Amino acid sequence: MKIAVVGTGYVGLVTGTCFADTGNDVICVDIDAKKVERMKNGEVPIYEPYLDTVFERNIRQERLSFTTDLKAAVADAEIIFLALPTPPGEDGSADLSYVLGVAEELGHIITDYKVIVDKSTVPVGTAELVRQAVAKNAKVDFDIVSNPEFLREGFAVEDFMKPDRVVIGTSSDRAAKVMEDLYKPFVRQGNPLIIMDEKSAELTKYAANAFLATKITFMNEIANFCELVGADVDMVRAGMGTDTRIGKRFLFPGIGYGGSCFPKDVQALAKSGAENGYRFEILESVLDVNNRQKLSLIRKLKEYYNDALSGKTFALWGLAFKPDTDDIREAPALYMIEELLKAGAKVKAFDPEAMENVKGIFGDKIEYCDNLYDSTKDADALLIATEWSVFRNPNFTKLAGSLKEKVIFDGRNLFETKKLKDLGFHYESIGREKVTK
Ligand code: UDX
Repeated sequence: MKIAVVGTGYVGLVTGTCFADTGNDVICVDIDAKKVERMKNGEVPIYEPYLDTVFERNIRQERLSFTTDLKAAVADAEIIFLALPTPPGEDGSADLSYVLGVAEELGHIITDYKVIVDKSTVPVGTAELVRQAVAKNAKVDFDIVSNPEFLREGFAVEDFMKPDRVVIGTSSDRAAKVMEDLYKPFVRQGNPLIIMDEKSAELTKYAANAFLATKITFMNEIANFCELVGADVDMVRAGMGTDTRIGKRFLFPGIGYGGSCFPKDVQALAKSGAENGYRFEILESVLDVNNRQKLSLIRKLKEYYNDALSGKTFALWGLAFKPDTDDIREAPALYMIEELLKAGAKVKAFDPEAMENVKGIFGDKIEYCDNLYDSTKDADALLIATEWSVFRNPNFTKLAGSLKEKVIFDGRNLFETKKLKDLGFHYESIGREKVTK
């Protein structure tokens, strides 16, 4: 099939590359000429495991190409994917100007039947707005489909190739057939392709993300309570997660969820509820609790040092909002750095991928280190904000030798409390026993 993907952000790029890999001809469009040039030269503009291999292979085999010319890109395409940004506006609602802008333009330039697919996460009712925007100028038939993505950063290629499910929202049988043909190779192992109306598809995405954010937040509250009553959240998690109705995944407490999806989507769904006369009280609480949770490690730190953080130096492992990505959007580490600087402390940070991005925000206000132990050298304590694999099994002797004091505040529960106790560390984590020297 011939496919055009408009927008080469995270979602567009993964979508275009993976569709090319199943034999389709894909052309990706972006207004950023420099980025298009880089991609033409085989450069992947984001860090995502395996994407570079699949990307390079499909460019070489001439199934994946790039342009800034929307009209040329859609001329031959049977399907046009819109993977455009929907940033939160001041009030938390999704800004649809990019999506609707391109939709209007498409109306002018399409000359035969097209299936136009919303891939961006958009509020319920957007498919109808896109339909109206295209229809304003269109002289030919077209259908609108809502096809939300459920890609996790770090696993995007795997999630795209082997999805738990594919959700297709359309009221047109013709478009449904085209989408079924396109997705057949991805659901051949029996994973469902669920066809529904556009609005339900749009809401499915928000409901799924808001539910997962709520699940994490619930566990964060249980963890906070564990600390007060002396229970161990790891045990509670194991005891709960084995109930198949609950499930083992997404029960890991920490210093709050971040990233480009959960914070934005929870806010947008709450806002969309309000606009439609429904108050999502549960989501309002999720937002509050998560904001508080991002600073839970700093609160522990302040308590340990009796509020005297000024002049102290802290090593910070992990800046990305989660491992295997350089994405720092809504990363708890950023909120922590801000608080530490406000309190007059120094920060020596290390992250395997995200340091360049953080330089763009904090510049030389913090120090960026080349490796784990450079950051801990002469630091008063170590703080951990992201669970990169490389942090999981450090050389504790080296660590103890480089830190001024053997003190660790772990926001991701990486180590066994017993082990750290035996090694003589002061070790505080989330929802588990506080180990003191
Ligand atoms: C998420 C959804 O999983 C994906 O389906 C959607 O399309 C986009 O948003 P992503 O943002 O890449 O994907 O990250 P994910 O791996 O889901 O983690 C989100 C956040 O939750 C991270 O900050 C992570 O640290 C946190 N998290 C996750 C927890 O704190 N505990 C958990 O048990 C799981």
